[in-house]
Amino acid sequence: MKKVIGAVYPGSFDPITNGHIYIAERAAGLFDELTVSILTNPQKQSTFSVEERKTMAREALCHLPNVKVDSFAGLLVDFLRRQKSRIIVRGLRALSDFEYEFQLAQMNRQLAPEIETLFIVTDARYSYLSSHAVKDIFNFGGPVQDMVPPGVFRRLRERFPRFDGEKV
Ligand code: PNS
Repeated sequence: MKKVIGAVYPGSFDPITNGHIYIAERAAGLFDELTVSILTNPQKQSTFSVEERKTMAREALCHLPNVKVDSFAGLLVDFLRRQKSRIIVRGLRALSDFEYEFQLAQMNRQLAPEIETLFIVTDARYSYLSSHAVKDIFNFGGPVQDMVPPGVFRRLRERFPRFDGEKV
């Protein structure tokens, strides 16, 4: 029987951007199953609730049949163990991401030596893109249509109604 290789792509996804979707697409091509898992962190203020973030991610990734969207609380490595997965996927944009990602990967290795972190380099189109930047640009009336999937754009407009269609 063929062994199914599953990986987990964790993050805040607040909200999911086209950069995240790109990484999920690349990872979905490498593994049999990919779980996009959204951190539930009551200590961290988020723009969208976990349920909203899950809905937006599911909508944006529904073209990838081997991808599912879930959430987790607590340690990431514990979530992987529950999933019986040994691979963490993270996207890398620029050198500036590296220090933080290296720290996360080292910490996770210390906690669970059997788990591997794999990095997928983003496409040049998304090297500047982050959820934070999208929210900032949107807040100040800038155009974000090309940075996020349509469902996220619609919810941003619902959440921040002061900017209408003329401005964004
Ligand atoms: O999208 P983000 O915010 O950069 O994702 C960070 C995330 C969710 C991957 C990271 O904060 C995480 O795994 N948190 C869960 C807690 C944990 O396992 N901490 C130990 C490693 S420092």
